[in-house]
Amino acid sequence: MENTNTITTTKQKRVFSGLKPTGQLTIGNYIGAIKNMIELQKDNDCFYSVVDMHSITIDIEPAILRKNSLDMLALFLACGINPDKSTVFIQSHVKEHAELTWILNCHTMMGEARRMIQFREKSKENKQNVNVGLFDYPVLMAADILLYQADLVPIGKDQKQHLELARNLATRFNNKYSPTFTVPDGVFNKTGAKVFSLLEPKSKMGKTGDNPNGIVFLLDNKDDIMRKFKKCVTDSETEIKAKTTKPGISNLLTIYSQFKNVTIKEAEKEFAGFSYADFKLSAGECVADFLGKIQKEYKRIINDKAYLESIMKTGAEKARLSAYRTLDKVKKKIGFIV
Ligand code: TYM
Repeated sequence: MENTNTITTTKQKRVFSGLKPTGQLTIGNYIGAIKNMIELQKDNDCFYSVVDMHSITIDIEPAILRKNSLDMLALFLACGINPDKSTVFIQSHVKEHAELTWILNCHTMMGEARRMIQFREKSKENKQNVNVGLFDYPVLMAADILLYQADLVPIGKDQKQHLELARNLATRFNNKYSPTFTVPDGVFNKTGAKVFSLLEPKSKMGKTGDNPNGIVFLLDNKDDIMRKFKKCVTDSETEIKAKTTKPGISNLLTIYSQFKNVTIKEAEKEFAGFSYADFKLSAGECVADFLGKIQKEYKRIINDKAYLESIMKTGAEKARLSAYRTLDKVKKKIGFIV
């Protein structure tokens, strides 16, 4: 399923998505996932999680993980995820994720897990710490989605292969026992399913490991944002047009159009005749203004520890109820005495 800005669904669907608090959130996360998460909550029953269990597949300082998790929760809310409409929770508060992962592990073939591109990439980046968790990560992600019987999963393009595994596992389990899991569909942003680094416009804008000057973080201040946009890599031409031969300009047009809520064509028209330098400034200004409002809200929320605590508590209670229901069914089907 693809969308631009409006998603129309006939009946309320179950939605699940998660973001891992390995590093700070970026505009790639915002455009690729969070925008659709916000849009979908209008008409659907959504579960949104800070998936901290995924973060320990790489080495991470406990204090940093704790800070990132709280920051992410506050940023979810600051971006517009409404805890009165959606269930917002921390993954490790719901033990069913780990339990279902074990059961799904026993239905996942080594060969199919080995084919996961992200595992191969991450194990190359992290040669000293290729742990079993890193290998098993996509199965945990499948458990996240299947526990909540999600119909829809808003994600960026880099998660497509993992979602495919979740779909395969659901179908395999349903065929082996009897219908148990909903087979989920991905929801992708039509133009922004993959946002690229400002410095290497053919590589994904990541959270960690890459050159931070190519990444715009949601909590970057205006000076840093403007500096990053000014230094953004483009090409030797002059035309502001999205083309495969112009990855830098195409990426900037994507970013601008997503923050301005206009189409690429409209953005091209608006900047016809502009110099690259002026376009970079306008794109930077637009992003900085947008993020400035989110940051103001974030500052208010992150300082209200009692509020964050109450969101986490309520979210975990609601999530547990749903997760327990699925896990109980699964356990009965595979022959566990429950
Ligand atoms: P994570 O934490 O790396 O990224 C969170 C979400 O942001 C999207 N994304 C991007 N989209 C467009 N352009 C980019 N440059 C970009 N970078 C990241 C990701 O596709 C993702 O949707 N395994 C997941 C987290 C996860 C999850 C889940 C997601 C765990 N369980 C269940 C959905 C459902 C991950 O590492 O995303």
